[in-house]
Amino acid sequence: MAKSRSGRFEKEASELLNSFNASLPFDKKLYLEDIEGSSAHAKMLQASGILTKDEADAIVGGLQEVLKEIEDGKFVFDISDEDIHMAVEKRLSELIGAEIGGRLHTARSRNDQVALDFRLYVQKNTLTLKSLVRDFINTLIGIAKNHTNTLLPGMTHLQHAQPINFAFHLLAYASMFKRDFERFESSYKRNDFSPLGSAALAGTPYPIDRHKSAELLGFSGVTSNAMDGVSDRDFALEILFNISVLMTHISRLAEELIIWSSSEFRFITLSDEYSTGSSIMPQKKNPDVPELLRGKTGRVYGNLIGLFTVLKGLPLAYNKDMQEDKEGVFDSVETALISLKILNESVKTARINQDKMREACEKGHLSATDLADYLVTHCNVPFREAHFITGKAVARAEELKLDISQISAQELQKIDGRIGDDVVKFLTLEASMNARNSFGGTSVPSTLKQIASFEEWLKTAQ
Ligand code: ARG
Repeated sequence: MAKSRSGRFEKEASELLNSFNASLPFDKKLYLEDIEGSSAHAKMLQASGILTKDEADAIVGGLQEVLKEIEDGKFVFDISDEDIHMAVEKRLSELIGAEIGGRLHTARSRNDQVALDFRLYVQKNTLTLKSLVRDFINTLIGIAKNHTNTLLPGMTHLQHAQPINFAFHLLAYASMFKRDFERFESSYKRNDFSPLGSAALAGTPYPIDRHKSAELLGFSGVTSNAMDGVSDRDFALEILFNISVLMTHISRLAEELIIWSSSEFRFITLSDEYSTGSSIMPQKKNPDVPELLRGKTGRVYGNLIGLFTVLKGLPLAYNKDMQEDKEGVFDSVETALISLKILNESVKTARINQDKMREACEKGHLSATDLADYLVTHCNVPFREAHFITGKAVARAEELKLDISQISAQELQKIDGRIGDDVVKFLTLEASMNARNSFGGTSVPSTLKQIASFEEWLKTAQ
């Protein structure tokens, strides 16, 4: 008879119930957290005088044996044990005897046990994700440093808009990923509290020391209401949300990598190591990595909405619906971990085709705004009128089959006599990019300042 069925039941659970009810097939992933939590609980029970030293030592030693069995692949996972908590506890009792093993669950319930294990998993992975995000920002800054003078068309509506430099474009992404880093950081802090000792829902009559077990597990404190301790899954929602925003950023970048590596653009060439072929078209080199990054983002959003939906109607405290909280989180975490790793490698190894970027800048009259700005600042023309005159200049340039950056001062003067001979030096692509020197702008000095501030940040961001 499974441990959780106690003396109340006369019949064994049906196989159908076991396969429907059990979380073991997926929550076995939490074996380490479960064993860490149980060891801390046993030590706390001893410190509080609830277990003797011999009992606690036997339990902690037995849990280490269970851990070894699991890691050596010798542990037999039996679905009738329901979940990882029961499976570990059952094996512990087999190893050290039920007389002592049976004492581990004093002053504890699976409700606080699962809340603890899951929180430990989320916290651990929050740190890993944060550090992978940092690694990627480091990669972006490394590339940016070499490309402050690499011109490329800045776009709106995917149409050429104004010349920018490639470093500036990468820094836009670095800024997004920095916020992702900070989101993981703040969630970590907010959720750094142990629910262990909340017991089933109402606390426990045993003289436990929740702060002791929290400290042994590395938490900065304990949750302050037992009912909330077992019912709260905000920490899981937070990691799902944080990953969703992260994947949104990854997906936008992935989309650009796909566009940039197309024959029409050729701004970058993805390395062979991170490109795939076609089974029928021998010439093909496909950007499957960024496409999958873009595609996986959908799954991650689904996991967030899935958990919101599970939680929204639940009365306090624990309900079995909450067992549905784990798979989506595992999936999103694993998706984000591998996504960050492969994105980092693909970007690191991509070739940047500066000539193609520059060539693209010479089409689309990217410095047209600079002509309007020239009319405003040098000829005292109101901006709306300057906009109109510039439109005519663009039309003339098109007639001449020239880009606005190539047209002569004489041609422009035919359109508006107030234009001086010095105008052409304001219309070059470099001049246009460097004119945007406002704080956070694309000029080279402004881009260099942004790089410097990221480098400062990278020194302390851990
Ligand atoms: N397997 C359960 C879960 O994942 C553990 C908690 C079970 N608690 C209970 N009262 N049935 O949520």
